[in-house]
Amino acid sequence: MRTHKLRCTGCDLRIKGEDARSDFRCPNCGDLYEVEYPWSESATVPSEHVNRPNPNALRYLWQERRTSSLAIDQSGVWRFRDLFPIVDDDKVITLREGNTPLYELPKSAAKLGLNWLLAKHQGMNPTGSFKDTGMTAALSVAVSRGFEWVACASTGNTSAAMAAYAARAGLRSMVLIPEGKIAWGKLSQSMDYGSMTVQLRTDFDGCVRVLTELVNRAPIYLLNSVNPYRLEGQKTPAFEILEQSDWQVPHHIIVPGGNLANCAALGKGFAEMKYLGFINRVPKISVIQAEGANPLYLAMQANGGKSLAPVIADTRASAIRIGNPASWRKAVKILEANGGWCEQVNEFEIGLAKAEIGAEGIGCEPASAVTLAGLKKLVADGRVGREETAVLLLTGHTLKDPEYTINYHRGQLFNESELASATGSELTEHNALQHGPIVLDANADDVLRALDSVAAAGHPA
Ligand code: F0G
Repeated sequence: MRTHKLRCTGCDLRIKGEDARSDFRCPNCGDLYEVEYPWSESATVPSEHVNRPNPNALRYLWQERRTSSLAIDQSGVWRFRDLFPIVDDDKVITLREGNTPLYELPKSAAKLGLNWLLAKHQGMNPTGSFKDTGMTAALSVAVSRGFEWVACASTGNTSAAMAAYAARAGLRSMVLIPEGKIAWGKLSQSMDYGSMTVQLRTDFDGCVRVLTELVNRAPIYLLNSVNPYRLEGQKTPAFEILEQSDWQVPHHIIVPGGNLANCAALGKGFAEMKYLGFINRVPKISVIQAEGANPLYLAMQANGGKSLAPVIADTRASAIRIGNPASWRKAVKILEANGGWCEQVNEFEIGLAKAEIGAEGIGCEPASAVTLAGLKKLVADGRVGREETAVLLLTGHTLKDPEYTINYHRGQLFNESELASATGSELTEHNALQHGPIVLDANADDVLRALDSVAAAGHPA
């Protein structure tokens, strides 16, 4: 715990964890930190003083912990705590997050002409999104530093996760969310878990601005993803994917891009696995943005990610409705280091992809579905090959945003111009995937007649 440092990813300044400014920005250059251990590739500690983690011993230990009755071992995040010793064990706040399934998506794979396609479903975490993996880490740090209040600005999932973990820890929490712009499932969670829920009349980027000022003026611990400890928890799904694949490295990881911390966290996880000798190559990591919230996509097109111009964000995938992403520089570094791409997808493509994932019996929230929509583009122009393995990061549970799903199936989601953007075959697929509710009188004859007509229409896509 006492051995880690925070390294500025902009100017390499190293500080002790407890010396970070409350907004987690470097005082020299304003960039973001990452957590560095004596064994990290970037560390400057002489190697004779470093106790380097041993891959074989750790693989065995991590498997062993699965059978333990200790909460900290049952957590699919803290099971890997040897690679992020940031708090003492007795300070850990866990809801047994992680341990999420790696599903096959056979129907989508067949349609894309891929041999196989996998989905790491982070929506299967305790509060229904990948944010739990990062929140358990950073909130445990808040506890160990003695804070009473924690806060975040959020498009909904971070706030749900923070509220739950704060409640478990007995801390007070405040969420700042854009009024009217987050999904109901998420809003209900932060209230249910007892958070002070503040709806600001602005967008996500406006909430971040207000929160940054608040943490500078009051002793509140900031739990947005600029907090580098969040990324330490969020790197562990990379370890799980490798474990679940018998340590065969997938060729591609496809993630949604919002504030752009998650791609950086996974990139850090895979890089550490390679550096420590668990694996001998890293996967390409591609980031998919919604067309209406695409600042990284535009930056990569315009100048290869050297500078980023914020946009006014607008997409129904409300989790990634972010115009000024905090971690964009980290994301560009991962795209460069791992060799992935940034793609954008439109509203129709997102809705269709979400319905396809639903039709696999899995489901996810709209922001997660951008991964499948983006993969279609990567396959179409040969960037992802038939023989290659791709893993989609499904970041949120389908029940986070039931309104979106209901509107899709009732044919009320898309406007005319969105429908006009679809190709003929996309529209055919869309029509086959829609399963709006059928209202009938309460008698068996009517139901059987309806069943016959549905059966005659054929099996859904
Ligand atoms: N998918 C979902 C479901 C999300 O909630 C988010 C981010 C992302 C993807 C993007 O991840 O920001 O690391 O690039 N949601 C944040 C929130 C911003 O407040 O819940 P990112």
